[in-house]
Amino acid sequence: MKITAKAWGKINLHLGVGPAREDGYHELVTVFQTINLAETITLTTLDEDAPEQGSVVKQLSVTGPRGVPTDPSNLAWRAVDALVARWRATNDGPLPMVELHIQKGIPVAGGMAGGSADAAAALRAVDAWIGPFGEDTLLEVAAELGSDVPFCLLGGTMLGTGRGEQLVDMLNRGTYHWSLVVSPKGLSTPEVFRKFDEMSLPSSMDVTAMSQALVDGSVWQLVDVLENDLAAAALSLRPDLRKTQLAGIRAGALTAMVSGSGPTIALLCRDEQGARDVTDALLDEGLGLSVHAAISPVPGKNRGAHIVSIESE
Ligand code: C5P
Repeated sequence: MKITAKAWGKINLHLGVGPAREDGYHELVTVFQTINLAETITLTTLDEDAPEQGSVVKQLSVTGPRGVPTDPSNLAWRAVDALVARWRATNDGPLPMVELHIQKGIPVAGGMAGGSADAAAALRAVDAWIGPFGEDTLLEVAAELGSDVPFCLLGGTMLGTGRGEQLVDMLNRGTYHWSLVVSPKGLSTPEVFRKFDEMSLPSSMDVTAMSQALVDGSVWQLVDVLENDLAAAALSLRPDLRKTQLAGIRAGALTAMVSGSGPTIALLCRDEQGARDVTDALLDEGLGLSVHAAISPVPGKNRGAHIVSIESE
């Protein structure tokens, strides 16, 4: 059996960060939206029984950018094992070993939930293989794997609270066009949160203006209400990103926001042509930047992590 699943990256249109909690996480009020950069995961069952306990994953391979672990620390690998553990709690019998392949379309360590999308796609694949587990179980396991994994599972435009895993749909009428400037070097999310604490930065926990802008759907409203409390921390760790922001504005972007914990700079553009022009202008500058035009949110029934194909031998 060969199951292919896909999940989208995300952008935080609003990222309000409260104080650190006792468990080390920060209380968030965030507005997630999917962007049309995707991870594609293929799970292939092998002609070999898995041991009764332990991992069912024999190996994992990756095509795309470097820097993705191919060992059991990989989030997709962990997602498969976590859901298989749930299956084993109530089922007997052998499972075959499986092979995972990740085709990366989301930059690594770029603040766009690439690893979380891998986990979400892997959960959908295992669900199609030995499920159904039900959406509640998938969301529970997703939250155990990482704060952004539940959103990657569901997609769309959602308000995230708690550590980002408690989700509710938001109304949104807009389609937004971005030019995403990816830094060659990633930023560690825990390090950015630590810097946020150290700098005693203010928290923006009110999303009223953002909700109104999304209902209105105009990019001109959105541009005024984008907010990221982690931006100052990311820029303090990576002052070079200011140059990227300036280059984006010079190229015609309406605003230049740090995406999530960075270091990707998300340039909001007027429309599709605007995003293409900004992307081309930045590529032409020859700064060696990797730049992608993208839209948010991803529309339709495949707005979250979903199955692309199932082939049985
Ligand atoms: O949940 P996830 O594994 O994606 O989080 C990575 C790290 O980001 C956490 O270990 C924590 O340091 C930080 N984080 C946080 N508060 C959140 C989400 C993430 O401090 N709400």
